[in-house]
Amino acid sequence: KKDGYDTFMLKEIYEQPHVIAETLRGRIVNQKIVLDELNDIDFHQFNKVYFVACGTAYHASLCGSQVLERATKLPVIATVASEFRYNDPLVDEQTLAIFVSQSGETADTLAALRLAKEKGATTIAIANVLGSTISRDANYVLYTCAGPEIAVASTKAYTTQLVLLILLAYYIAQELGKEIDHELIQQLNTIPQYVENILKDHSIFENYAKMLENLHDAYFIGRSLDYASVLEGALKLKEVSYVHADAYVAGELKHGPIALIEDGSVVIAVATQPHIAAKTISNIQETMARGARVILLTTHGEEVKNVENTYYLPDVVPTLQAILVAIPLQLIAYYTACIKGCDVDKPRNLAKSVTVE
Ligand code: F6R
Repeated sequence: KKDGYDTFMLKEIYEQPHVIAETLRGRIVNQKIVLDELNDIDFHQFNKVYFVACGTAYHASLCGSQVLERATKLPVIATVASEFRYNDPLVDEQTLAIFVSQSGETADTLAALRLAKEKGATTIAIANVLGSTISRDANYVLYTCAGPEIAVASTKAYTTQLVLLILLAYYIAQELGKEIDHELIQQLNTIPQYVENILKDHSIFENYAKMLENLHDAYFIGRSLDYASVLEGALKLKEVSYVHADAYVAGELKHGPIALIEDGSVVIAVATQPHIAAKTISNIQETMARGARVILLTTHGEEVKNVENTYYLPDVVPTLQAILVAIPLQLIAYYTACIKGCDVDKPRNLAKSVTVE
């Protein structure tokens, strides 16, 4: 069942080139995005968009919300389902509400979906499990094609959610007659090959993991889209390796968290977005000045002096870096857990689908 891999998590990490290609298949035709499932929606009726999800699916939503807002110029709010359902959200007939769930059975997400429908929103589910409750309850459904995800920690569901949410953002922009980033659409089809190449660098990430094995805490920093990526990187690390990990918007460091940085602290920084990379890099230098050891995941052209470890991601448009950078972050978490002897597929206290509140 594990196809020769030691664990389901590793197998699922390595399935990503294939399942990303599957998720893209048939959805880009002659430079146009085709989502036939949504054919009868008139997107002009909406004046706001909500993304609602939990955990990893929420991190994918945070990324999706930024991409959608930029592409469509509609105001977009991403929120976790357990907050949405109890905070009297401003949802009405002019709201598009997008619910993201791998299992399609998460109790809070399902309850949030019911609430949004009651308030008159048009609802789209992004689900992985065919025929799941969410896919039946939402007005519309788009499937990620990740295949069964067995490991408790989500990996391939996350990257396929990112792919589908980026497609959805540009599909809505296209339907609204907005300008489309054709370079991005073109590059989407190259992502599986780039992911494959990053996976070949696995021993680099295994070495980074050795920096984390004896630590109690790790700090992840990033800005903009990179913030969604570091939230997910920190979640992955804490759930499989039990290293306490927190993610911060890099600009917030000096508003508190930098007090935690001392000699030997490990900071994992993601700086893939050119418009703010220099800002993140200056935050990295501030942590190094206080003794932090840094792992930097960035793109060529963002060289930083004296950083202990820098990994350069392939050269694709900035939005697509969110997909690529997920791979090193998953592998760092995975190898840290392995080195520590953790049960990576079944971390303590966690269940694959959270069907109670
Ligand atoms: C983390 C993880 C969880 C799920 C969350 C939502 O690796 O798997 O955070 O993402 O419980 O689950 P779904 O997507 O099934 O609604």
